[in-house]
Amino acid sequence: MPVRVAYLQFAPEYLEVDQNLATVESLLRPVKADLVVLPELFTSGYFFRSKEDLAHVAEPIPEGTSVTALQSWSEQLGATLVAGVPERDGANLYNSAVVVRPNGRVDTYRKVHLFYEETTLFEPGDLGFQVFEEETSDGTSYRLGTMVCFDWYYPEAARTLALKGADLIAHPSNLVLPHCPDSMPVRARENHVFTITANRHGQEEKAGETLEFIGLSEVCGPSGDILERADESTDTVGVVEVDPHDARDRRINKHNDVLRDRRPEAYASDPN
Ligand code: ACM
Repeated sequence: MPVRVAYLQFAPEYLEVDQNLATVESLLRPVKADLVVLPELFTSGYFFRSKEDLAHVAEPIPEGTSVTALQSWSEQLGATLVAGVPERDGANLYNSAVVVRPNGRVDTYRKVHLFYEETTLFEPGDLGFQVFEEETSDGTSYRLGTMVCFDWYYPEAARTLALKGADLIAHPSNLVLPHCPDSMPVRARENHVFTITANRHGQEEKAGETLEFIGLSEVCGPSGDILERADESTDTVGVVEVDPHDARDRRINKHNDVLRDRRPEAYASDPN
C-alpha cells in the first residue's frame, strides 16, 4: 500500500503559540494522510529578538503544549506528525523536530547545523541523525529520517540518513536562502530517497532587518522528481502517495548502486 505523505505550509506569528496551534489545527482537520510534516519552529516563529523570547516559548519534550497538541491531532488523524519546536532541556535550548505517532509515542531530533543567529541561541544537536521504523494505519512499513532546514546545506545529513536506511526524509524548514527547493531534488536523487520539505512563508523583522521565508514546500522522489510543490506565499497542505519500496532499490543501472559504490577511503572526513 502507498504512504500518503504531506507537507503543511503556513506563516507562524512570532511568539503567538496559541494562535499558531489554532491555525495548524484548522489546516490539518480535513487532511487525509499517513505522514504530515510541519515547518521548523512552527509554534514560535523564527527570528528571536532575544534569548529570553526563545526561553519563554521553549518547551520540554514531550510534556510541552505543542507536543501535547500534536499527540492529540495525530491520534485524531491516524497520522504520524513531524514538526519543529523550540525545546528546553534543563538549561539548554535546542531547535528540535519531534516525530509524534497516533499511539502518543514521541521521538526527538535536535538540529545539528545551526543557521545564522541560531548559533547564538541554541545548542547544536547532540542526538545525531536518526531513522525510525514507522507503520501506517493500513500496515505499510516505512523508515523515516529527520533533518531540519539548514541541514540540507550539508549533504552528509541526508547521506547519513540514507546510509541508516531511510526511505523518506522529513525536513521541517524555515528557509530564507533561495537555493534549497532546487537542491532537495538532488538530495533525493543522490540518496535515492523521498524528501518532504515543509517550509513556512511570510516575513519577520528585528531591529530593521527582515527575513523573508520563501515557501515552496515540496515532496521529491528518489529519481529527483518534484512530486508536489507549494507556491511562495499560501497556506497549503500538499499530499502525495508514495511507495517506500521505490526508495529501497538504490541501483542506478546494472553496474552501479548509489550507496554500495561509495568510496569512503577516498573521501576527506576532515581536512584539518
Ligand atoms: C534555517 O535553517 N532555518 C535557514
